[in-house]
Amino acid sequence: MKNLIDLLPIVQSKVVSPVLVVLGAPWPVTQVVEALAGHTVTCFQMDLFQAQRLREKIAQENLSAEVVVLGDLWDVPGTFNTILYPSPAHADRELKIDMVEQGFHLLEPGGKFITLSEYRRDDTFAKLHKKVFGKCSEAPRSEYGSCFWSTREGDQPRRRHELKFHARVNDGASQHFVSWPGTFSYGEMDAGSRAMLEVADIRPGDKVLDLGCGNGSVGCLASVPAGPTGSVLFVDSNARALKLTELNATANGVKNYKLLLSSDLLDVPVGEFDVVLANPPYYANSEVGRMFIATAREVLRPGGRFYFVTKMPVRTIPEIVDLFGQVDSIENRGYTVVIATA
Ligand SMILES: C[S@@+](CC[C@H](N)C(=O)[O-])C[C@H]1O[C@@H](n2cnc3c(N)ncnc32)[C@H](O)[C@@H]1O
Repeated sequence: MKNLIDLLPIVQSKVVSPVLVVLGAPWPVTQVVEALAGHTVTCFQMDLFQAQRLREKIAQENLSAEVVVLGDLWDVPGTFNTILYPSPAHADRELKIDMVEQGFHLLEPGGKFITLSEYRRDDTFAKLHKKVFGKCSEAPRSEYGSCFWSTREGDQPRRRHELKFHARVNDGASQHFVSWPGTFSYGEMDAGSRAMLEVADIRPGDKVLDLGCGNGSVGCLASVPAGPTGSVLFVDSNARALKLTELNATANGVKNYKLLLSSDLLDVPVGEFDVVLANPPYYANSEVGRMFIATAREVLRPGGRFYFVTKMPVRTIPEIVDLFGQVDSIENRGYTVVIATA
């Protein structure tokens, strides 16, 4: 995102406090905060892990900005004269749309929404700004990317950007789910999670942990065999995922559930769960996957069952064997579901 920082001088004269910086990785956002020294800056993040890294970097550089972690941009308290959205090239298109639409509602009348895009030719944002704000200004093309800005005039109703889907496992009843951009598996049940649930042995009364719950579909579907005496703890580092999970759990009548926002999993109660279900992020580096495995080992009661779905069994199985001893694995739908007993 070096290029995005190089775009800032083009729009800097338009920036008026208070400023809200939307998403972005910790280091580039820290550079934006540094470039905006003298302004009152709030940074919006959805993921607790990213937000904590950002807070650390801002402190290391002796800068000042508040970092808020929320599921929705329009839930940030207050209103702003400038919203700055540094959007990297790989960013999810649906999330871009959602951020511009939600950002409108946080601007003061006459306030500006400024997008910095890594693409030198970017059709998405010009159209999007026009659709949401009526007009869009664009800086002359730069070697570093493109800049767009629009001014808020008037009002408009809030419109939630979302997709709905139904899912069922084996012979279970169908449940309905809402999904939001920026959360895993937008608009459909993930095939890996379905593969895991199809082979998971969940019994009446089970205490289930949905580790990395995303939209909550895994824990909601698991709550059916766990029945009225069972319970589900949904855990994710992404505040949007948890907000969505709450909506889905309530809509599907899940009775005994709790939500936990955590990126280090230290607050998950030890030795309490009968079943842990995990579909970890597929990042190249497997640190989160390893943390999920270590947490499962600690939080399962003796005899509790761990299900871990992966496309990389050669790397993952030894890590699970290390902590659990003997493991089984089942191939289902092109995935490997690793099963271990505590
Ligand atoms: C592959 S997705 C699975 C989501 C969901 N279970 C499903 O099947 O749709 C992995 C989830 O892990 C979450 N995650 C990533 N790092 C995490 C961490 N350090 N602590 C807790 N959750 C994390 C992500 O936000 C994401 O929702």
